[in-house]
Amino acid sequence: MNKKDKEFSGYKRSFAVFKKFYSRKNSVYLVSKKDEELEEFYVLKIYRGKDRINRREKEEFFLKSLRKSSINVPEVLISEGDSMLIRYINGGTILDMLIDFEAGKNDAGNTFYRVIDIINDFYKYSLDIKGKGYILRDINLRNFIYSNDRIWRIDFEDCSEGRAEEDFGRFLAFILTYDPVFTEWKISEVKKLLEYISVRFESDINMVTAELRKELQSIEKRREVKVPFGRLDKIISL
Ligand SMILES: Nc1ncnc2c1ncn2[C@@H]1O[C@H](COP(=O)(O)OP(=O)(O)O)[C@@H](O)[C@H]1O
Ligand SMILES: [Mg+2]
Repeated sequence: MNKKDKEFSGYKRSFAVFKKFYSRKNSVYLVSKKDEELEEFYVLKIYRGKDRINRREKEEFFLKSLRKSSINVPEVLISEGDSMLIRYINGGTILDMLIDFEAGKNDAGNTFYRVIDIINDFYKYSLDIKGKGYILRDINLRNFIYSNDRIWRIDFEDCSEGRAEEDFGRFLAFILTYDPVFTEWKISEVKKLLEYISVRFESDINMVTAELRKELQSIEKRREVKVPFGRLDKIISL
């Protein structure tokens, strides 16, 4: 039996796989139901590794609660054991958009600002439902999907208590370090975003830039990326 056959036990057996999404931790598939007449797509996420049941439960909790919030999240259809079936959002990730925007060398419109708003809304909403501030933590641009003029958030496994400034700083670090890193275009987008954060929210902007720097150091360690730290001055001289 190959790995995929072993993974597809129970209800999963009635689904056919169309493709596998990029995931470092889990197995995430685009699937459809074998006997369904009108072919509809779903995403089947099989959690792997340490704590997988807890991670699935945490993700289920946030996906279900956020349906009542202003943040767009896909509907959960089945959630049990180490897997979850959710509705497929037909669109590209924000990383795909970043690459397209930069190739066209125009600005990103309001797309990145809307991601900033999602980060802030999530933090505020968690204060309401949990009485504590939670952050998304995994701010990878592949965890935001653009579809029908809406931005959807997926992937809540790594959420934990924190301050919105951490997510803001991390988001900016991610934008700067996708290949090619620290281009003039990326620097100019990030400067505008920092300004937006500082006028729009009651955020501690020094904390945002400290998080940005911290995340850049961590990215340099975990990816094969050389960060030109000298160029940070161009951004942080607000
Ligand atoms: N509901 C969904 N609709 C469309 N694409 C999805 C959906 N859920 C996941 N994906 C795709 O699968 C990838 C991995 O899913 P994700 O939940 O982020 O898992 P991981 O924790 O392994 O990163 C995403 O980056 C995205 O491309
Ligand atoms: Mg992800």
